[in-house]
Amino acid sequence: MSVVIGLQWGDEGKGKIVDFLAKDFDIVARFNGGNNAGHTVMIKDEVFKFHLIPSGVVRGLVGVLGNGMVIDPGILVNEINSIKNRGINLDLKISYKANVIMPYHKIIDRGKEIKNSSRKIGTTGRGIGPAYSDKMKRNEALRIDDLVSDNFYEKLKDVLNLKKEELIIYDIIRNVAELEDYTKKIYSEYKNYSFILKDYVCDVTEYLYEAHSGGKKILFEGAQGTLLDIDHGTFPFVTSSNPTIGGVFTGLGIPPSFVKKVIGVTKAYTTRVGRGPFPTEIFGRLANRIREKGYEYGTTTGRPRRCGWLDLVALKYSCRINGVNEIALTKLDVLSGLDEIKVAIAYELDGKTIEYFPTSAEKLYKVKPVYTTLKGWEGIDNDEWEKISRKGFEALPDTAKEYIGFIEDFLKVPIKIISVGAERNMTIVRD
Ligand code: GDP
Ligand code: IMO
Ligand code: MG
Repeated sequence: MSVVIGLQWGDEGKGKIVDFLAKDFDIVARFNGGNNAGHTVMIKDEVFKFHLIPSGVVRGLVGVLGNGMVIDPGILVNEINSIKNRGINLDLKISYKANVIMPYHKIIDRGKEIKNSSRKIGTTGRGIGPAYSDKMKRNEALRIDDLVSDNFYEKLKDVLNLKKEELIIYDIIRNVAELEDYTKKIYSEYKNYSFILKDYVCDVTEYLYEAHSGGKKILFEGAQGTLLDIDHGTFPFVTSSNPTIGGVFTGLGIPPSFVKKVIGVTKAYTTRVGRGPFPTEIFGRLANRIREKGYEYGTTTGRPRRCGWLDLVALKYSCRINGVNEIALTKLDVLSGLDEIKVAIAYELDGKTIEYFPTSAEKLYKVKPVYTTLKGWEGIDNDEWEKISRKGFEALPDTAKEYIGFIEDFLKVPIKIISVGAERNMTIVRD
């Protein structure tokens, strides 16, 4: 039973690592987030992009969507159809306790970003924040259970009645007289999704408990990353869920004893989409080079990702929060051909050197990274990387091995998986 967790600001290559690990598991479960996630799996020249359904289903694992998720039913129906159309045999379980993203959540998400331009977060605009806010408000939320119930219309009507002022503020309806028509409009769209989804809905907690007792192996697939965590991330520039280890237990209703290994995924450098502090961010030619070589454009929104050096201060923090047992280091190939590679080993804050990661955005905007410069390695083409992957760790350039060794020594966590390309076979495993 392993957990795959992002250690940075998302897009670390979790989809690729989940796919690589999938052969040893029977079930793959998502526990947080929604379709703000975009996980890529490459199989030969075919690219699969997953937003709600966990990536492991591409290898025939049973896919689970936990109660900690917020689900946009229209997106889920499309994703189910597109996966089936590509010849994948889909076995899916959706928690009846997961919350539903409604059309107005998406409008409010985007509306808030425009209205609050000085407090803008740079969200994916998928309605994530407003859906989780309603979950916390409790009586303004609708769960999957409500969506597939016989009295969905009455429940929707009650919720919209509570939200009518908000709907008017965001120009979703002009006045209370329009509320009934708006309710009917959502109902007619969502009822169609409910017909399709109801067959997949179950008690996921019970399902996982039975599966675990029966000896099935479960892989937990995190979305987003530690630094985007609502509690432990760079608040307020975060998402609205817990992508960290605690989210696995609350987001699926399983005990900690189900987890035997925590695998933290990090790129060999750092990226971030959206706004917020990013101490090791770089600009200009070098940043563009990394962006183009690493194809650093959002899987969900297509936005260019901000790029920077590896931040070991942040990574040490992420390893501690999650109790990471081993690291999967991705995109090492992207750094080839650089004479020098920098890594941040401390920060300077108000004239003092600090070694901890201050999550407060205000402080993080002020810190200056203290770098160590390591030697790079020569440019290596794809064919050569493939050969290196086949031969194993020893075949890596010496300076690449030194780079990996430096990270391990600093973090005191072994790097067991090294990814040097998007495809499954472009992976080196160390014993
Ligand atoms: P996730 O959200 O963590 O699953 O990551 P994304 O799929 O959003 O972004 C990672 C991107 O890097 C995808 O396009 C992957 O296909 C690609 N990728 C993953 N691992 C590697 C690697 O080792 N090298 C290269 N060049 N690309 C990789
Ligand atoms: P995966 O699973 C990278 C970022 C958004 C924004 C912030 C809040 O592919 O790693 P939200 O829409 O969640 O309210 O946006 O979080 N964000 C991600 N960045 N990868 C993701 O997911 C992300 N999901 C959300 O860009 O800065
Ligand atoms: Mg992604």
